[in-house]
Amino acid sequence: MAHAELITGIDIGTSKIRIAVGEVSPDTGEVAIIGLSEGESRGVSKGTIRSIEEVVLSIIAVKTRAEKMVGATLSSAVAAISGSHITAQETKGVVAIGRADGEIREDDVERVLEAAQAVSVPPNYEIIHVLPRRFSIDNQTDIKDPIGMNGVRLEVEAQIIEGQTSHIKNLTKAVGLAGFAIDDLVLSSLASAEATLSDRQKDLGAALVNIGAATTSILVFEEGDIMLVRVLPVGASHITNDIAIGLRTNIDIAEAIKVQYGATLSGLGRSTDEIQLANLDEREEGSFSRKYLAEIIEARVEEIFSMVDKELRSVGRSGKLPAGVILSGAAAELPGLIEVAKRVFRLPAGIGVPSGVRSAIDKLASPAYTTACGLVLWGHANLEPSGRPFGSGGMQGWSGLRLISEQVRSMVRIFKS
Ligand SMILES: Nc1ncnc2c1ncn2[C@@H]1O[C@H](COP(=O)(O)OP(=O)(O)OP(=O)(O)O)[C@@H](O)[C@H]1O
Ligand SMILES: [Mg+2]
Repeated sequence: MAHAELITGIDIGTSKIRIAVGEVSPDTGEVAIIGLSEGESRGVSKGTIRSIEEVVLSIIAVKTRAEKMVGATLSSAVAAISGSHITAQETKGVVAIGRADGEIREDDVERVLEAAQAVSVPPNYEIIHVLPRRFSIDNQTDIKDPIGMNGVRLEVEAQIIEGQTSHIKNLTKAVGLAGFAIDDLVLSSLASAEATLSDRQKDLGAALVNIGAATTSILVFEEGDIMLVRVLPVGASHITNDIAIGLRTNIDIAEAIKVQYGATLSGLGRSTDEIQLANLDEREEGSFSRKYLAEIIEARVEEIFSMVDKELRSVGRSGKLPAGVILSGAAAELPGLIEVAKRVFRLPAGIGVPSGVRSAIDKLASPAYTTACGLVLWGHANLEPSGRPFGSGGMQGWSGLRLISEQVRSMVRIFKS
C-alpha cells in the first residue's frame, strides 16, 4: 500500500510555537490535518530570535508532542517567517523569447521572474518571495498565466518580499537544529491567507489582519493580487502591558486577566461585575471592574486598528474593501473585537479560521492556527511529493503567486538532509 505523505507546518511566534501536520491521501491527493500542537515560545522577543538555544528547546517540545499525536517522526517542515523587519517592494522584469515558434514556456517565466529580482535589496536583506502580479506579452497586458501563449517579449510586474538576513539565518538554524529539514520558508501572513481567505474574497478585495503577541501583520488582496504587505511592531502584548499598568498588577496576572475576563466594551455588554484579584492569585489583593478593564482594552485595540487603517489608506483602500477585514491570530478570540474592527475600518469584519481543509480536530477551528494550517496547505500546493520544492518541473502554472527566492533556497538547503 502506498504511504500517506505528511506535510508539517511550523509557526514560531513571539508567545507560542504551533505545529500542524497534514496527511495527503494517496488515493485522492487531498490533505487533512491530523495533528496540532502548541507550546510556549522561549527565546523570541518582538518576533525576533534572541536565543537560538531556547528556541530550539521550545521547538523540540512542540515537535515531540506533534509526533506523539500522529505516531510518526516529523523530519521536514514548511516554516513561517514574520517580524517587523519584513518589507515589500514593487518591481518589473522583461525578457525576450528567443524560440522560433515564440511559445512561452515555464523556463521563460522563471527567467522573467529572475530578471524582476534585479532590484537593489537593502544590505543585510534577502528576497523571500517574488510574487508575480501580472504579465504582459508584447502589447497584450493583464495576463495571469502566460505559459503556452506566444510572443517575442515577456514582461512581469511583481512584488518582492524581503527579510533581514540575520533573522532568516537564525530561524533556519533553529528549525534545523530542532531536527527539521526545511521544505520552504513562507511569509506567515501569506500562509494565514492560504488557510482563511477564499478566491472570491481575494478577488473582491479583502484585508487579512493577524494580531499576534508582538506584531500585527496586514495583507491586502484585490483582484486576486496582493496589494499590501506590512508587519507592524504592535500586538496583543501591548494590551497586556496596559492592563498591568492600569490595574497595577504584574505581567503574568495581567495576561491571565486579559484571557479570562478581557473584552472590548461591546463584547462586555452591560456587565458591572467586580473581579477580585485573589481569584487569579491568592497573594493579590484588591479588585477591578470589568468595565474599567474593557475600557483599557478598547483604547489599545482602537489604536492598533487605527494604525492598520493608516496602512490601508496608504494604498487607497481605507473603507474600500468589499470583502472586508478578516482577523486572525490568537488575540482575535477577544470578545467584541469584530465590533471595534467594523467601526474603525468602516468595513465588514469577521474572524478567520482555517477553512477548506478536512480535520477531525476541534481545536483547528481557531484563529490561532491559521498560520500553521496555512503552511501545510502551502506545502501541499507547492511541494512535490518527495519534498522537493515545486517550480523545477510540472505545469501547474504561476497563478498561485508562489516562488521562494534562490537566495533563501540556498540557505535552506544547508539544513536539508
Ligand atoms: N482567548 C484569548 N483572548 C484574548 N487574547 C488572547 C486569547 N488567547 C491568546 N490571546 C493573546 O494572543 C496573543 C498571542 O497571539 P499569537 O499566539 O497569535 O501570537 P504569536 O504568534 O505568538 O506572536 P507573533 O505573531 O506576534 O510573533 C497573546 O498576547 C495572548 O495574550
Ligand atoms: Mg503569530
